Amino acid sequence: GTFVHSLALSDLQVLQSAAVGVHEDGTIEFLDENADSPEAVAEKHSWPAGSYSIVSPDPASASFFFPGFFDTHIHASQYPNVGLFGKTTLLDWLNTYTFPLESSFADLKVADSVYSRVIARTLGNGTTTAAYYATVHTASTNRLADLALSAGQRAFIGRCCMDANSPDYYCDKSLEEAQVATLDVIEHIKKIDPSHNIVCPILTPRFAASCTKELLSWLGKLATDTKLPVQTHISENLLEVELVKNMHPFGNSYADVYDKCGLLGDRTILAHAVHLTDDERVLIAKRGSGVAHCPASNSALTSGETRVKLLLDAGVKVGLGTDVSGGFTPSILHTARQALLVSRHLSMEGDESHKLSIEEVLYLATVGGANVCGLGNKLGNFLPGKKWDAQLITLDCKDSPVDIFPWERQKHEDLVAKWLFNGDDRNVTKVWVDGKLVAGTEFAL
Ligand code: GUN
Ligand code: FE
Repeated sequence: GTFVHSLALSDLQVLQSAAVGVHEDGTIEFLDENADSPEAVAEKHSWPAGSYSIVSPDPASASFFFPGFFDTHIHASQYPNVGLFGKTTLLDWLNTYTFPLESSFADLKVADSVYSRVIARTLGNGTTTAAYYATVHTASTNRLADLALSAGQRAFIGRCCMDANSPDYYCDKSLEEAQVATLDVIEHIKKIDPSHNIVCPILTPRFAASCTKELLSWLGKLATDTKLPVQTHISENLLEVELVKNMHPFGNSYADVYDKCGLLGDRTILAHAVHLTDDERVLIAKRGSGVAHCPASNSALTSGETRVKLLLDAGVKVGLGTDVSGGFTPSILHTARQALLVSRHLSMEGDESHKLSIEEVLYLATVGGANVCGLGNKLGNFLPGKKWDAQLITLDCKDSPVDIFPWERQKHEDLVAKWLFNGDDRNVTKVWVDGKLVAGTEFAL
């Protein structure tokens, strides 16, 4: 079939009549750019007849294989609140909408119903890897890990740490409580997926404004000792930046607070990064940390416009995040669309260099996200040696939101553009993770 994937920021490769060979363990064995028939390709690679099965879309259909999406920042527990933010901004939004909802995850029944829905919804939208925030609750965070593993979605599972400046009804009551709960979740995930191939714990100080210096430093040391990844928020909102400055005067900047606590490693995901200074971009690049760009959330909560091009130019890794439910969409395709539009708003302020292209936002959604998650050597595109995490996009499926005319069928660059701007989960007919079919509109048929 046709394969579309990113090789570099501005290099989106479209291969028509290509073939990818996937080993039983999910590893891509070969990518043949010109393939006559599946049988001829198999013979060339000495795959005996009968030892393989074929997935080959109808050549007359407007369809292509695309790498699975990375959602580098999503609050699984906030899914019921998508679209609910009114006219609030970050700090009053947290108190009005977010903390009351998250506190309800003390009840495992709430966790079961919300987490199973959000996993199904994101997988159905082609998200094969998600970096999830859960809540402070150990049992329901462990349940999120169980559910992601059984659905077959790659997931980083973060138990939210928040021992300062948080409401009494929803917080860590002490440093020790945060430590015990964090270690419990790590232990649980070690038991259910010892190699962390599918689910992996991620250390999650909610943000510097909700953690003591002691908790931040303990998590930083744990990250160094265990090599586990870290996720947190940075410079999302101006009032938040001010709050962090007052709370943690030992830091020269927001990024420096994390750095002094050992939290800026090469597996750290920093969400938002709207109001960073040049020095902070340089520091983050030097440490090898990545940024989760959350354009839908930054627009909805009027947080601001992240300078993605400045981050990339400084050498910072960048991926996309839905930030459900600061962001209202669980779809990374829609988020890529938002990233493109926000970059155009920035360019309308006078500097064209902020403008992002279709190729660039689709790179951020795949290879960029893989790099931010520390999985760039294993995932992100269809190069041999990587894992087959992929989606089959069918633009002329039943009830498609995209209208394709007969003369457009072979113009794959145009089809990709039409998909980006009008496509949705109805076009996601199959989704594979680690070589296994796990979702898509044709999954249960
Ligand atoms: N900063 C601290 N917590 C949150 C959260 O839940 N969502 C967002 N967008 N920012 C935060
Ligand atoms: Fe967030």
